[in-house]
Amino acid sequence: MKQHKLARPTPSRFRRYWTLAPGKVFLNHGSFGACPRSVLQLQRELRRQMEAEPVQFLWRRYEERLEPARAALARLVGARPQDLVFVTNATTAINAVARSLNFRAGDELLSTNHDYNACRNVLAETATRAGAKLRVAQAPFPLHREDDVVEAVMGAVTSRTRLALVDHVTSDTALIFPVARLVRELEARGVDTLVDGAHAPGMLPVNLTKLCPAYYAGNLHKWVCAPKGAAFLWAREDKQASLQPAVVSHGNNRPRPGYSSFQDRFDWAGTFDPTPWFCVGEAIRCMGGLLPGGWPELRQRNHQLTVKARQALCRRLELAPPCPEKMLGSMATLALPGRFQGALKSGKIDREQLRLYDEFGIEVPFVRAGLPERRCLRISAQIYNSLAEYEYLAEALRAL
Ligand SMILES: Cc1ncc(COP(=O)(O)O)c(C=O)c1O
Repeated sequence: MKQHKLARPTPSRFRRYWTLAPGKVFLNHGSFGACPRSVLQLQRELRRQMEAEPVQFLWRRYEERLEPARAALARLVGARPQDLVFVTNATTAINAVARSLNFRAGDELLSTNHDYNACRNVLAETATRAGAKLRVAQAPFPLHREDDVVEAVMGAVTSRTRLALVDHVTSDTALIFPVARLVRELEARGVDTLVDGAHAPGMLPVNLTKLCPAYYAGNLHKWVCAPKGAAFLWAREDKQASLQPAVVSHGNNRPRPGYSSFQDRFDWAGTFDPTPWFCVGEAIRCMGGLLPGGWPELRQRNHQLTVKARQALCRRLELAPPCPEKMLGSMATLALPGRFQGALKSGKIDREQLRLYDEFGIEVPFVRAGLPERRCLRISAQIYNSLAEYEYLAEALRAL
């Protein structure tokens, strides 16, 4: 394997708070996040306690650790604790919602061409079982204005549309969708909205009480930097009674005093490791304590680094930015230069993506997106990254 001579860039001074592999240029926080040392330390201690006294930890005193985590999450996402339940990931939350609803033949479910494949599959499967139809709204990419998204989604609504899945931040195209407008306009047409907020908590300010969709799913292992296995489902009060978790367990007939039946059903999904959930408060505290301005400063810093990184890549590779800066959070997707276009997908990971890792130590995902479809790459910016890392990526792409 060829090792190139380009000097490896220095990450930011915050990298020492993470356990990321030395020498690797990690520009893919968006896929699975990365958990800071202090959170991992707490998780190790919690696991020690769990194995020392499994029954105390998992049963008798379970709620003592769950409730502070739920309260901390509720503060972060502007929600009432009673409307929030933990799940292990966003896919599980989307499954719970879609599989709880009774659709009939002729009903329509709506998604967009920017949605996440796994979540689209959940809707497709749900529609097939009910004899309903899945309609996929086509929003452009590149795009110039948020209105392009709103027009595409609203233009695909019919009198039969029952549920719309809209992303808060899209995965492959890394766009902030105008979810407040979408929720308002969809609700006005009588359509319930399931917001896929897998990337939003920690990347954007989220206020669920204000947004008030029918359902909202969010991941906590990505931009909140909790351990893998921490995610949540929020449901508006009038929607909670009909929701069942993806895995049914004790909660259906074992009410606990002080808990909503929604929480009873979701808080226990069979024996598992709840330490990722119990670490959510520490993750929120740790990330919010890295900068004097707390979470707002962290989000702003990551956004500004994304904008600068995208500018640097566009300049060095002569690329046109495919969306306005205000539609970016802390990720950005760019179409690769012309010489990369046209190659067919031949495996799980593109050849050039593998070469970036093997020859330059860069972890960055390649995706296919847009109308017409183009080969793109998506960068992420977390506080441990530096601008020099994206400049190095640009040089590596030029050298490929
Ligand atoms: C928009 C979006 N939705 C859902 C998911 C699924 O997340 P998970 O694999 O944690 O369930 C992802 C994962 O990257 C995503 O980007």
